[in-house]
Amino acid sequence: MLKFDTITDLNNHLEKLRKDGFKIGFIPTMGALHRGHLSLIERAKQDKVITVCSIFVNPTQFTNANDLKNYPRTMDADSSLLDGANCDILFAPSVEEIYPHPSKTFYNFGFLETPMEGIHRKGHFNGMATVVNRLFEIVKPDFAYFGEKDFQQLTIVKMLVKMQALPIKIIPCETLREKGGLAMSSRNIHLSSKEKEEALIISQTLFKVKELLPTTPFDELRYWAINNLTKNPNIQLEYFEIADAETLKPIKDGITNPDQLNSKIRAFIALKIGQTRLIDNLELN
Ligand code: PAJ
Repeated sequence: MLKFDTITDLNNHLEKLRKDGFKIGFIPTMGALHRGHLSLIERAKQDKVITVCSIFVNPTQFTNANDLKNYPRTMDADSSLLDGANCDILFAPSVEEIYPHPSKTFYNFGFLETPMEGIHRKGHFNGMATVVNRLFEIVKPDFAYFGEKDFQQLTIVKMLVKMQALPIKIIPCETLREKGGLAMSSRNIHLSSKEKEEALIISQTLFKVKELLPTTPFDELRYWAINNLTKNPNIQLEYFEIADAETLKPIKDGITNPDQLNSKIRAFIALKIGQTRLIDNLELN
């Protein structure tokens, strides 16, 4: 695997590859890599592209200074994991390389940035889109791979590409879970073994909601799920939502039959266990 930390070096290399007819597949990350991230590299490999993975802990998308400070940074381990996954190129720029001038772009993603993470992490998506756009300008990929684990992020990235008519195909990748169902996340390392057990309630609730959906009205489902998620006093629920997978608009109470819906719907959860914030979601129909 080749490693670059400057835009010039990366560009010189990618330019040659493009001239030779290679397509570029891009996997942006913030590091602290786990098998969920590596599954994105594997997915990209299926498209026979040159895989470029970036590791950049993006300050503009953190809404809490402590969260940014405590975000796990494990570059040596990440680099060997990527090497083991046969990633072709690692791009690991400094903050100055990405943000030579402290500038901010203001995006308007309409309703997509309003609910869920939009309420609980104000400004997060603007910072995320700023860095993804900057990384897209630098890498100029043909394909970019994003996890459904961060579904609202994925939806906003698709909108970013649409709004700017970028010639990039966004490939959604399924959420990789641990054996018990917990979605893999860089934040899981902050969980004690007791908290990891407690966190199983997230995926259990999502899968149960999926199972109950054909026979249960939405208002009852929501009531059941919220009840189930708030039984443990060590868990602070931020939101449980059932929403349209494209528009992210909440599904209205009163709809009793999922066949009345002609689009995909998903359930979304965000909660804190102790100090650790976790999110997850699942397609329901
Ligand atoms: P990060 O949290 O490092 O995630 C990088 C990519 O890995 C995202 O597309 C995320 O959805 C995906 N991912 C994380 N956990 C996953 C899992 N269990 N299964 C499948 N995919 C998973 O998301 C970011 O970084 C940043 O916001 C970024 C897009 C890099 C911009 O800074």
